[in-house]
Amino acid sequence: MSREELVSMTRSLIAHGAADTMEYADEIVRVPASTYTDPELFELEKRNIFRRLPLMVAPSCELPEPGDYKAMEICGVPLLLTRQRDRSVGAFLNMCSHRGNPVVEAGTTGNATRFMCGYHGWTFKNDGGLVGVASPKDFGPVDKAALCLKRFPVHESAGLIWATLDLDSKLPIADYLCGYDALLEAFGFDTWTLFSQRTLAGPNWKTAYDGYLDFYHLPVLHKDTFGADFFNRANYFFWGPHQRLSSPSKFAQKTGSDEMLDLSEMADEELPADALTQGVWTVFPHISIASFYGGGQRGAMISQLFPGDCVGESYTTQYYVMENQPETEEDVASAQEQFDFLEIVVRDEDYATGRRQHEALQSGMLKEVLFGKNERGGQVFHTWAAKLTHASDEELLDIFAAERKQAAE
Ligand code: FES
Ligand SMILES: [Fe+2]
Repeated sequence: MSREELVSMTRSLIAHGAADTMEYADEIVRVPASTYTDPELFELEKRNIFRRLPLMVAPSCELPEPGDYKAMEICGVPLLLTRQRDRSVGAFLNMCSHRGNPVVEAGTTGNATRFMCGYHGWTFKNDGGLVGVASPKDFGPVDKAALCLKRFPVHESAGLIWATLDLDSKLPIADYLCGYDALLEAFGFDTWTLFSQRTLAGPNWKTAYDGYLDFYHLPVLHKDTFGADFFNRANYFFWGPHQRLSSPSKFAQKTGSDEMLDLSEMADEELPADALTQGVWTVFPHISIASFYGGGQRGAMISQLFPGDCVGESYTTQYYVMENQPETEEDVASAQEQFDFLEIVVRDEDYATGRRQHEALQSGMLKEVLFGKNERGGQVFHTWAAKLTHASDEELLDIFAAERKQAAE
């Protein structure tokens, strides 16, 4: 983890806060309204973004023990994640090599060393190996080694698991992350635990994601819940398409108390971990991470967004992760209260607005939407989304090789 880089971002936020300034984008950017509503573009995004780029498929603490597994379906691709005996994660195409039946039902989790396909009874180990063909004498001889579950590229770092849903992908996941995961390590998620999770329905995936990328809307849309005390300002930091946004301020709340720390009076080595990770950390194209405190513990909401079945639908899994599990009944209730509050904010404020916005945009009457100089996050996100949707496979490799080189300099 580069504490130096975190400190330098924090110093910049403190300086802007003290001067009552923020960093602006150069200009207002116009995005065609059809970007949100065009069904053909939506299909292309599913194919070229969600089925071609690494996705953060689970926090490590969702699969903490050898044998833990989770089956999910992402943009039509059945995915099986397992924690293998050596504690590494396997990401497999969840389709039996006999005739393609999913070997584990999508949406389920559990702990198992083997999976038996429910159609004809072939059995696979949780490292993907085919161990048993039912009635082998009747079936005839097969090369078991050639009939393992197919493996997707997978990468675990900073307590998060990425997989690429393209069996032939040549894009190294580390290139794609542009060094960003080294900063995400500052949260310490690799030793945290999963408190709870839920899945919410939302509007078009980009409409939904826009809401994670600006603070401009906080004092307006969220005025009755938490936004009244927030400024509309954010400074942005970028690593390739991944970005962090944070309020320019010289203050930070002391962990677990109402006391405010004046960071401008603290030496670099005194800056606390929470102050260094303030704000919202997004991972392109679909993750947002924000810190909270509740139940006597540091916690974070990891929101994982996927496109739904049609252009106007998405779904978001909210993982509430905590540094330690709350122990007393009171602490459990308080953590649950924090988690429930975040459901209300996202469901009833962000996504309810996103739905109304999407319906209105579908009228086709508005040709463009605007992202102001203070909404640099949305500007950058839409630029990357368009660039990666339309890039060829070769261009994709070049783009991220160059980003990684730049990040290393
Ligand atoms: S499809 Fe799995 S055993 Fe036949
Ligand atoms: Fe919001």
